[in-house]
Amino acid sequence: MIPYSRQSISEEDIKEVNRVLRSDFLTQGPEVPLFENNLSSYFEAKHAICCSSGTAALHLAYASLGANKESVTIVPAITFVSTANASRHLGSKIIFCDVDPVSGIISINHLEKILEESAKSEAVKNGFICPVSLAGKTAPLDHIHDLAQKYQFSLIEDASHAFGARTDCKDSAKIIRSGDCNLVDAACLSFHPVKHLCCAEGGVLLTNCDKISTKARRLRSHGIQRTHDQNHDRPWFYEQVDLGWNYRMTDIQAALGNSQIKRIDESIRKRREIAKRYHDAFSEPKFTERFSPPVMEDGHAWHLYVIRFHQAKDRDQAYKFLIKRGIMSQIHYIPLYRHPYYQKSSPTEPLLGAETYFERCLSIPLYPELNQTEQTEVIEALSDFISD
Ligand SMILES: Cc1ncc(COP(=O)(O)O)c(C=O)c1O
Repeated sequence: MIPYSRQSISEEDIKEVNRVLRSDFLTQGPEVPLFENNLSSYFEAKHAICCSSGTAALHLAYASLGANKESVTIVPAITFVSTANASRHLGSKIIFCDVDPVSGIISINHLEKILEESAKSEAVKNGFICPVSLAGKTAPLDHIHDLAQKYQFSLIEDASHAFGARTDCKDSAKIIRSGDCNLVDAACLSFHPVKHLCCAEGGVLLTNCDKISTKARRLRSHGIQRTHDQNHDRPWFYEQVDLGWNYRMTDIQAALGNSQIKRIDESIRKRREIAKRYHDAFSEPKFTERFSPPVMEDGHAWHLYVIRFHQAKDRDQAYKFLIKRGIMSQIHYIPLYRHPYYQKSSPTEPLLGAETYFERCLSIPLYPELNQTEQTEVIEALSDFISD
């Protein structure tokens, strides 16, 4: 079976993980701070706080920014459940924002409407916006930043799909990068095996804010603070000052991350090459009559390659057809408000952009080690499907 995505593990990665397995520290050793330094340099962020998953990073970000039962969090309807769940765990109310029907990215118009409405009704204490840079396309963080400032909402980018992604800025020649902490209070990434960089499980919270960083580091480790500086005679002393979690990343995971980050740009380059080859094939009229390939953009990091069928029924048939040909595809995502949990906790009328995107989208195989023969198999299978 050709999967829709998979990790890429080199001999060097295995050597690095083995080295740590033979070392003194499997956790709380030197690999995590080293990985944090590597990530801060890559993203030019002042702080990088590694943790056990992307979900944990989001949970830490919301918590460190003070989300609670009185908070409201606006998330795009098209995303993985974690974007909203991490905020729900703190008791916040979720508002689902519609998305662009072509890209699946949060709709600025709808976001502005939600913010206007919330400003009219009771003043929102502690509002949050969590846009998602879906599939590897950077969300319009500059627009969202302006809105967040205007309405005094905190801004967290869910950059789980967008390691190394960038896009043009709305009103200057500048480039916006996913994970740019000049535009957001915090950005969170996931290091799950299907993502650009794999730690087996893992995530990072990036921020330029010292206060968020200090709080997130403490919450990552039970809310414990080591205060032995003031207790010279008691070097073992520590205090729990918050109610935190054990969200630490292990040194084994960080060693894999440190090894993988050395070739991250090469790996994104390969993804771009594969996307370009799909694009060239699918630009032929016989394909475009039935589905649209995604829009090509220089800075797209291609976590996913999502085609959009013109007819919703074609999407489900294509999924089954591809399985028979040994090819896995995937749907990213079912609108969150459709899930039974959110139907109960945040009932939402269907949103047109999200419904349109969801009913037609199909993520087809894309990962750095997808070879040309396999990619040709995918293209031929889709060609057979449309002429079936
Ligand atoms: C958009 C998005 N946000 C958050 C997450 C959560 O990441 P993790 O699986 O590392 O907890 C994922 C992972 O699938 C994701 O795709």
